[in-house]
Amino acid sequence: MSILKKIERYREEEERLRWEGTFEEYLELIKEKPYVTQTAHSRVYNMINDAGVEEKDGKKTFSFFKEQIYGLEESIEQLVEEYFHSAAKRLDVRKRILLLMGPVSGGKSTLVTMLKRGLEQYSRTDRGAVYAIKGCPMHEDPLHLIPQHLRADFQEEYGIKIEGHLSPLNMMRLQEDYGGRIEDVQVERIFFSEDKRTGIGTFSPSDPKSQDIADLTGSIDFSTIAEYGSESDPRAYRFDGELNKANRGMMEFQEMLKCDEKFLWHLLSLTQEGNFKAGRFALISADELIVAHTNESEYKTFISNKKNEALHSRIIVMKIPYNLKVSEEERIYKKMIDDSDLAHVHIAPHALKVAAIFTILTRLKETTKSGVDLIKKLRLYDGESVEGFNSQDLVELKNEHTDEGMGGIDPRYVINRISSAIIRKQLTSINALDVLRSIKEGLDQHASISKEERERYMDFISTARKEYDTIAKKEVQKAFVYSYDESAKTLMDNYLDNVEAYCNKNKLRDPLTGEEMTPDEKLMRSIEEQIGISENAKKAFREEILIRISAYARKGKKFDYNSHERLREAIQKKLFADLKDIVKITTSVKTPDESQLKKVNEVIARLIDEHGYNSTSANELLRYVGSLLNR
Ligand SMILES: Nc1ncnc2c1ncn2[C@@H]1O[C@H](COP(=O)(O)OP(=O)(O)O)[C@@H](O)[C@H]1O
Ligand SMILES: [Mg+2]
Repeated sequence: MSILKKIERYREEEERLRWEGTFEEYLELIKEKPYVTQTAHSRVYNMINDAGVEEKDGKKTFSFFKEQIYGLEESIEQLVEEYFHSAAKRLDVRKRILLLMGPVSGGKSTLVTMLKRGLEQYSRTDRGAVYAIKGCPMHEDPLHLIPQHLRADFQEEYGIKIEGHLSPLNMMRLQEDYGGRIEDVQVERIFFSEDKRTGIGTFSPSDPKSQDIADLTGSIDFSTIAEYGSESDPRAYRFDGELNKANRGMMEFQEMLKCDEKFLWHLLSLTQEGNFKAGRFALISADELIVAHTNESEYKTFISNKKNEALHSRIIVMKIPYNLKVSEEERIYKKMIDDSDLAHVHIAPHALKVAAIFTILTRLKETTKSGVDLIKKLRLYDGESVEGFNSQDLVELKNEHTDEGMGGIDPRYVINRISSAIIRKQLTSINALDVLRSIKEGLDQHASISKEERERYMDFISTARKEYDTIAKKEVQKAFVYSYDESAKTLMDNYLDNVEAYCNKNKLRDPLTGEEMTPDEKLMRSIEEQIGISENAKKAFREEILIRISAYARKGKKFDYNSHERLREAIQKKLFADLKDIVKITTSVKTPDESQLKKVNEVIARLIDEHGYNSTSANELLRYVGSLLNR
């Protein structure tokens, strides 16, 4: 579909969703769809749930966050269940500001942005629909029109509880425009949009001295005072602060604790009573989710200040620590790279994984559990099985430190190091070693890292490097063993022919020339030695194999590569040992012979076709593994 067509569709859709009617008609509507009267918190909660919930082992994963937030399932579950769920039930937590506290670049803003974009979408669905008094700058809830003394009756008839009172502006409009006839007041469906400042707001602190409270709560419109005769005429007031605009939806309060105290007080009166003060008016009711974020050190400073004590109880703090799973961290990097202008650069397989291993190591805390070092802990956290440990151990490890993940290296640092390496060296391809090197260089320049920390981090770089060595060797082995089964079968057949001739004291016949040959002792020994069969034990081993073969034959079964475990192991090791020689040769021999060259080219082709390398990174890998094997 062309973009113009899409724009047209979108407009048509909005047209279709539009609804406007009198309050009387609105009352009919809510009889059918009482859920449209839900509170802002309840709407957020339902939005998250409607996107889908997966439950496994008593743990919930919310699909709503899945596409952009990785590895924070536990924190998110806590956030949804402890805050949103309780708030949706109109429990008191709703009246507190939600403060996300976590280390820098840990995904707090991403999370809040998802909620905002989500609400914009959700308000376009049936379940998430929102209605407001038409023409009200705060999109006031139409039910506020019901006078206080009739609300109990209303609740009885409709089963809906009304909170908050009609704002001074709508009170006046009711009299002036509708002659007091509530039933005639126009109501409309609204669609949240941050751009249009409907139901979604963002407030970020600026210079504390110049910051104006009006940014939050609106201000007098001096140009209209003359018209309305008084400053206390609500029509002479612009209800265009972020708190006004975010009514019915949510407001993000960025870096809240960097703000001046008087701002916080305003905000806190809103959250405590569900009201806020604007100009000279009586308190204005508001129904909105306020989400703020901050880092741990700011938070600590804030709570250690006695003057702020009264504010503590008005904030609910949710920790958003760093992700602690290697595989999820890798996904974070991929996403960030895809979103950046590095997307065209070839990133060799495992490069991001190795960076993630380093990063996660910096975030983990040592355990007192015996037999568990950080790398084992890292594996267990990532869901790998580690011999001798089970899921109970994992739970214990996780419960050992309450503040794990609140510090360490942030994902942005890694992405910056990758991009700096690429730009500086004008690379079109980057591998794990390049990435580790760049991270290391970055640490040298990093001012905010203590000497001790730097040393610890250097250790983690070498740990990550060792992990990479293992990965790289395996990778080359896999690629070397082209049609592995075939090579193994050929080698085994060859071995068995020789063993048979040896045991029966026969000669072998060369399949090509028909010449008679004695059994190839060198070949047989080269295989047997792989599993430690001594010269004295070789005869017994060979006979055992022959017996096994004839036993198979009697049962009509075919003896194959998998029929003898130790033999299989020997063949496998022999193949890998051969590989070792070949890889060694590629690096040590300046001019490989034709067959060596052919082999190398095959391996490279396989790395490219099947394992995600390009020719640069495949050659680099081969050279590196060669140097490892030559040590
Ligand atoms: N757990 C995570 N899942 C997905 N992306 C993440 C995660 N943590 C950090 N990021 C990414 O790192 C970058 C910084 O995150 P951001 O939300 O701005 O952090 P914060 O607001 O906590 O400082 C963003 O590109 C974000 O997508
Ligand atoms: Mg942020």
